[in-house]
Amino acid sequence: MRHFLTLADFSKEELLEMIDLAIKIKKQTKERNFVPYLEKQTLGMIFEKSSTRTRVSFEVGIYQLGGVGLFLSSNDLQLGRGEPLKDTARVISSMVDMVMIRTYKQSDLEEFAKYSKVPVINGLTDSYHPVQLMTDYLTMIEFGKAQNPIAAYVGDGNNMAHSWLYLAAIMGFELRVATPKGYECDAAVVARALELAKKSGAKLIFGNDPKEAVRGCDVVTTDTWVSMGQEDEKEKRIKEFSGFMVDSDLMALAKSDAIFLHCLPAYRGYEVSEEVLEQHAEVVFTEAENRLHAQKGIMVWLDSKRGE
Ligand code: CP
Ligand code: NVA
Repeated sequence: MRHFLTLADFSKEELLEMIDLAIKIKKQTKERNFVPYLEKQTLGMIFEKSSTRTRVSFEVGIYQLGGVGLFLSSNDLQLGRGEPLKDTARVISSMVDMVMIRTYKQSDLEEFAKYSKVPVINGLTDSYHPVQLMTDYLTMIEFGKAQNPIAAYVGDGNNMAHSWLYLAAIMGFELRVATPKGYECDAAVVARALELAKKSGAKLIFGNDPKEAVRGCDVVTTDTWVSMGQEDEKEKRIKEFSGFMVDSDLMALAKSDAIFLHCLPAYRGYEVSEEVLEQHAEVVFTEAENRLHAQKGIMVWLDSKRGE
């Protein structure tokens, strides 16, 4: 049995198997051909943080695969009143077939997985957002940007930046990360990504200059400056991220056919300008829809690994 906790736990071949499944199932879904790959299966979805895309895409996704999703807010679970995580894991995983969790600490996700009898999927932690990056890679493929691209991540060295590092490191493409000083990626994540990059030939470049990062690249991406759980730092962050907005002047430095990706929600006038987001709306909202398709690929792949 396999869990889906970080991209770094998988080989390039395994991630591409999931993407291939996603592409196949997306095509079937578009034809209204809902093949019941996960018939009668139940997905428990535990949320300790807010969500629009993750909740809707997992719940609709499991339903279209022939199963059912169970939305479990930590406010309503006994977990929120102090029931230990390991007990919650043992109980829930004795009744459902797969679990998706959105939480704060990666170590909590790992603990849940340790006690779970069924596959566990990371629906975002403070450290990583791997289902989003599978989606982003699917979107890059669809828009013709997956063959040796140069990608630039501009902004906070957060969960999205970390998952971009792993994606580039495993797939073997160039990623330039530009963060404000003091908001760099976690050193242990960078070290692990550099280790993975040795095998794939990926080029990972770190700096503090958005212009240098974006110049001549094929894919530009960013994320909110204030992640969930950082609301108290909002004022400070807005000041310190000044100059890191992806606006038309910055996009003009990328290749003329460069795409812009954003996991959403987007905060216009902060990490991205209104103009850039609207100009690239087709890609960005295809990316959002692709959460549905990419996650089906992941769930069907995990199901196929049971008992191995
Ligand atoms: N991108 C993403 O994970 O969105 P939600 O927070 O709405 O789930
Ligand atoms: N970095 C953001 C991503 C939201 C999808 C957060 O963690 O809030």
